[in-house]
Amino acid sequence: KVYRASTTAPVNIAVVKYWGKRDTKLNLPTNSSLSVTLSQADLRTLTTASCSASYPEGDSLLLNGEPSDVSGARPQACFRELRARRAALEAADPSLPKLSTMPLRIVSENNFPTAAGLASSAAGFAAFVRAIANLYELPASPAELSLIARQGSGSACRSLFGGYVAWRMGSAADGSDSMADQVAEASHWPEMRALILVASAAKKGVSSTSGMQQTVATSGLFQERIKSVVPRNMEIMEKAIAERDFERFAEVTMRDSNSFHATCADTYPPIFYMNDVSRAAIRAVEAINAAAGRTVAAYTFDAGPNAVIYYLEKDTEAVVGSLYSVLSHVDGWKSGAVEGLKANVSFDESVAGLLKNGVSRVIMTSVGEGPVATEEY
Ligand code: DP6
Repeated sequence: KVYRASTTAPVNIAVVKYWGKRDTKLNLPTNSSLSVTLSQADLRTLTTASCSASYPEGDSLLLNGEPSDVSGARPQACFRELRARRAALEAADPSLPKLSTMPLRIVSENNFPTAAGLASSAAGFAAFVRAIANLYELPASPAELSLIARQGSGSACRSLFGGYVAWRMGSAADGSDSMADQVAEASHWPEMRALILVASAAKKGVSSTSGMQQTVATSGLFQERIKSVVPRNMEIMEKAIAERDFERFAEVTMRDSNSFHATCADTYPPIFYMNDVSRAAIRAVEAINAAAGRTVAAYTFDAGPNAVIYYLEKDTEAVVGSLYSVLSHVDGWKSGAVEGLKANVSFDESVAGLLKNGVSRVIMTSVGEGPVATEEY
């Protein structure tokens, strides 16, 4: 007999960034962080977890059709935690099938190209944990599962929820209070949009896992960031979201991205994630905001050159319209989504040229919901 359960999980993009661990084994961060969960219609991981006493190969993982190693500490930590919870249920109710002792087979697929250079580990580990929890019929809340997903990849803990999500750093040495928590539902501020400019399909040079620890070890600026910059940004950001104050949301988003990349530059030797296309995107956002006479767009960058631009639905014309003539020929552009939009180039031609030549794909999406159990597999 084969037991099976499937789920989808979303991507999230932080507006206050996680960068630095105080415990590398448990993935405990040096600061709290906050992200927006993106719509699964555009970006999601679909994962099926199954188990059977007759699986011959032991635990296994198929990632986008390719066999993937599960012997690493991160998937092992997730397997161990989930099995322990299932074993406790089985001990309490001997009539339950002994799933905790059976090999697990995990099959995971993204609906976006891995080559797009988009962070997929967050959606990946969130789906991994949620699918096994569903298979095991664990009564665990998303917050509790976030403790487990965190051990797979830090940012994954935030993908257990939809909407606006904080990861509270916690203080316990065992990590029991370092978990995600929903700041607001997607429906609280459903007008939030995200435009992703894929600036490079190449794999990033320094992984976030190793990059952040080089920063922790060598950057003086980083100490200032975790002591005062991030706590202040978290406070303003939570208030901005509660009040749906886009101008404040945008300023903190841009400042926090800049602060994070400044600590990368202050790392010794320095780490550069942004490239010329990224910097052109920053100038484009500045030009769009200047032309609008208010802040209508906010950029942010993770550990790579792709730009994520947040804006509100009502400002689609001002934001996307400005970029329309340069982005309309790029792969992935959805002309239908912006029908009736006028090309309205309001920024420097050189910026337009750089964007046009360096952006390989455009994804237009919005704030979205958390993981969804599904029958498809
Ligand atoms: C820049 O979650 O990928 O995207 O915990 O080592 O797996 P590990 O790191 P990861 O780091 C993400 C860093 C970031 C900022 C963020 O998502 O908050």
